Amino acid sequence: MQVVLTIAGSDSGGGAGIQADLLTFAAHGLHGTSAITAVTAQNSVGVSDWAAITSRLVVAQIEAVAGDMRVAATKTGMLANAEIIVAVADAAGRLALGPLVVDPVMVAKSGDRLLDAEAERAYVTRLLPQATLLTPNLLEAEALLGRPVRDLPAMREAARALHALGPRAVLVKGGALPGADATDVLFDGDTVVDVSAPRVETRNTHGTGCTLSAAIASRLALGDGLLEAVRGAKAYLTEALRRSYTVGHGRGPVDHLHPLSRGR
Ligand SMILES: Nc1ncnc2c1ncn2[C@@H]1O[C@H](COP(=O)(O)OP(=O)(O)OP(=O)(O)O)[C@@H](O)[C@H]1O
Ligand SMILES: [Mg+2]
Repeated sequence: MQVVLTIAGSDSGGGAGIQADLLTFAAHGLHGTSAITAVTAQNSVGVSDWAAITSRLVVAQIEAVAGDMRVAATKTGMLANAEIIVAVADAAGRLALGPLVVDPVMVAKSGDRLLDAEAERAYVTRLLPQATLLTPNLLEAEALLGRPVRDLPAMREAARALHALGPRAVLVKGGALPGADATDVLFDGDTVVDVSAPRVETRNTHGTGCTLSAAIASRLALGDGLLEAVRGAKAYLTEALRRSYTVGHGRGPVDHLHPLSRGR
């Protein structure tokens, strides 16, 4: 049994964050562990309140897991503030956490900035250099680079420019671009590859970013190479979107457990 770790926030509505990550790990037949960075009061419509956990307790959770189990891969999601980002980067530097997928949760699909400027700087100076793979959406690529990223050619350039900031590979996610396909761009330091899948017509897209990065970490834990892991995760997410469902009055979740319920 392989162990995977998510370092992320809790989504009370069950569609994103830690909850999405643990379901995704389970769908891949892995033992999921978690270090919770923040608690959000959230549902399918929006976030009504949230609070960060102390950085000391975030690190204690990571140490408790890594001190006892062999962690095959790790992903980070919402890290809430600069202090937690620095503490997680420090932990990743001294503990054996396996390949590290950093989903830089900085700007929500809605365009809302989730971190202050100090936290954005901490990402760049401390965490990006430790990342095996960085997975920004378009708005996060823009925030990290300080220039617009609005089409495929700009995504390919952004992937190269972000790679220069230190991560070993970059996946710029194009979910927000219109078109028949949802296309992401992977740069592994060597070649730029477009990774496309048919766009699924649904409003139930809550937590797609969390799910994708958790699925990539899962596949890296299972021994996939990077491109194989990204392609496999994208196929898993696309099927989860096809089987997404409505709970509540806003954006519903994707069906994380679809591999376990074929033919339902
Ligand atoms: N309607 C859709 N159909 C198919 N794939 C999609 C759709 N929307 C997003 N994706 C894919 O979902 C993944 C997440 O991309 P997205 O750009 O939505 O990230 P994000 O903004 O970080 O998501 P989140 O708001 O959940 O954090 C990418 O692989 C993207 O191509
Ligand atoms: Mg995201």
